[in-house]
Amino acid sequence: MHTQLEVILSQARATRVDTPAQLEALKAGLLGPNGSLTVLTRGLGQLPKEERPEAGQRINRTKEAVQQYLEACQERIASADLEVKLGAPISDPSLPAPTPFGGVHPLIKVRDEILSILASIGFVSVIGPEIDRAHFCFDALNTPKDHPARSPSDTYYFPSDTRIHGLFTEKDEPVALRPHTSSVQIRVMLERQAPLRVVSPGRCFRRDTADATHTSNFHQIEGLYVDKNVSVLDLKSTLDYLFRKLLGPKTQVRFRPHFFPFTEPSFEVDLKADHLGKVGQEWIEIMGCGMVDPQVLRAVDYDPETLSGFAFGMGVERIAMILYGVEDIRHFYTNDLRFLNQFS
Ligand code: PHE
Repeated sequence: MHTQLEVILSQARATRVDTPAQLEALKAGLLGPNGSLTVLTRGLGQLPKEERPEAGQRINRTKEAVQQYLEACQERIASADLEVKLGAPISDPSLPAPTPFGGVHPLIKVRDEILSILASIGFVSVIGPEIDRAHFCFDALNTPKDHPARSPSDTYYFPSDTRIHGLFTEKDEPVALRPHTSSVQIRVMLERQAPLRVVSPGRCFRRDTADATHTSNFHQIEGLYVDKNVSVLDLKSTLDYLFRKLLGPKTQVRFRPHFFPFTEPSFEVDLKADHLGKVGQEWIEIMGCGMVDPQVLRAVDYDPETLSGFAFGMGVERIAMILYGVEDIRHFYTNDLRFLNQFS
């Protein structure tokens, strides 16, 4: 009888009671006409006479304990009920709406990651204007007047009579939404003397029809290092270091000869990162780079006889797509929370 009572009590206390119905069911199971304690009380008569008083007392003590537990449950249910009722004013339109925490946009995450790796090897960040003169976007970068990138079908120009505060143009000089961050190379070199090691992130614009890999607005990170005796080896090892830090030590980087008006020699850089799943299995073109063309150094009054440098420019979206396995660049701009929430 003793253990039976203990079992009944501990089972009762272990029963989940969150609603009035559950409370009633538990009560009936213990104290109702066929409840376990009622049945035991009824069975008292069958016990030997001398055992009855003690057994009776034990049953009563268990009933009291059960009763206490049932009352505690009752109170808990009542206060939970009250909380729900008190919680109701959440729907009061005069209260401020609960604001979910925002997250960092994946492009900003990737940009900051790249900048912090480059900062660790001495590249200081500078910001240039998104609207810039043809001089900085093209001419000082050794880009001839008939270069296809200068055509209005590639680059967005402002109407010729537009005056932009703070931007002083030569007579008849076009002003554009910059098509690349290379314009910042010129601005930095005009302001500072070598040696310099800078990186410039920012938004660029090209007249591209949107598809899975193009949008008319995108982001680049430009790098520039000018000093004595800078070589292609410095360029290659800087990019090797950057991409191994960013994408993992197994990442491979290769150079392919290319042409840019402002670097000589010029390269396109391909990446391979097998460990990044499907996107990493093949060589992917990732960015352009090269040794700063002597013509560019002359345009900013640097002496190409004593100075040399390298420059590179990479698309942030492209790297984010590889890093996160995103198959369509437009996901970065449509602000669908189902997409964005995966990065915060
Ligand atoms: N500006 C080039 C582009 O947008 C990239 C680049 C930057 C190439 C610096 C060489 C050096 O394609």
